[in-house]
Amino acid sequence: MGNVVVFGNQKGGVGKSTLAVLYAYWVADVQRQSVCVIDLDTQANSSKSLRRFAAGIEAVELFRQNAIVVAPPCEAAIALVAGGKQLADIELARPEMVIPAFRTNVLHLAERFDTVVIDTPPALGLRMSAALIAATAVVCPIELEEYSIDGVTDMLKTTFGVRRRYNPQLRLAGVVLNRFNPHSLRQKAAMQGLAMHFREFVIPARISTRSAIPEALAAGMPVWQLPKSAAREASLELMRVFELLQPRITRSGEAAPEEERA
Ligand SMILES: Nc1ncnc2c1ncn2[C@@H]1O[C@H](COP(=O)(O)OP(=O)(O)OP(=O)(O)O)[C@@H](O)[C@H]1O
Ligand SMILES: [Mg+2]
Repeated sequence: MGNVVVFGNQKGGVGKSTLAVLYAYWVADVQRQSVCVIDLDTQANSSKSLRRFAAGIEAVELFRQNAIVVAPPCEAAIALVAGGKQLADIELARPEMVIPAFRTNVLHLAERFDTVVIDTPPALGLRMSAALIAATAVVCPIELEEYSIDGVTDMLKTTFGVRRRYNPQLRLAGVVLNRFNPHSLRQKAAMQGLAMHFREFVIPARISTRSAIPEALAAGMPVWQLPKSAAREASLELMRVFELLQPRITRSGEAAPEEERA
């Protein structure tokens, strides 16, 4: 069975879609494994970046029973299950109908792909619950600022709540610091708060604000393929973060008991 990795944080604009897309590229390019990306956001940002990999099925269909599951791609390729406006209707659906259907469909995908990546909307709604119930790992990207600790706390509480009640397989792979600025005093203060509460979850590597990142995604390619010297630093930072995340995503066995503290 493949790993099912949710990129989640109910706070908007912290880098969920950016990192979900780049992690998928990394799995395909560096790990040479197959990856299916499910975009659960009506904004469909990750779908725009990955449109050339569209698998011909929309994410909204995964909330119905017996969705037609995408065929596995050729070796080391990406398949996109696209997001879109219709996903807003899922929030009004009956959870007992749509959540089990989504879980079953994701399980089918995890049988065919080495990794399933789920990009989520910036809310702790029904789609986020469905994603966590179907997942094996959560990655929580954050941008350090005044209220970022509150956002992480809520995300962690939700993750551990879902694990306790519905999905004992679920683990928190890590909190990823995005748009990190070592010169910002505000970020430094937020970093101290984060280290105090969540030290064991914070991935010890950072991603700075780099223009090469949105540029590459807009061009429909991973940063490491962007033919610019400015892309080099961004690629090194991203690769380091994914290398540190990967064993935490794939690790099997019991989760650390201290996770329950959150
Ligand atoms: N490290 C970075 N360097 C430069 N720009 C970045 C970086 N990370 C993210 N961005 C940009 O910040 C914006 C928000 O990122 P992204 O869309 O990935 O966040 P998100 O958490 O998915 O947002 P939403 O909650 O709206 O779905 C985008 O324009 C993206 O290109
Ligand atoms: Mg997004």
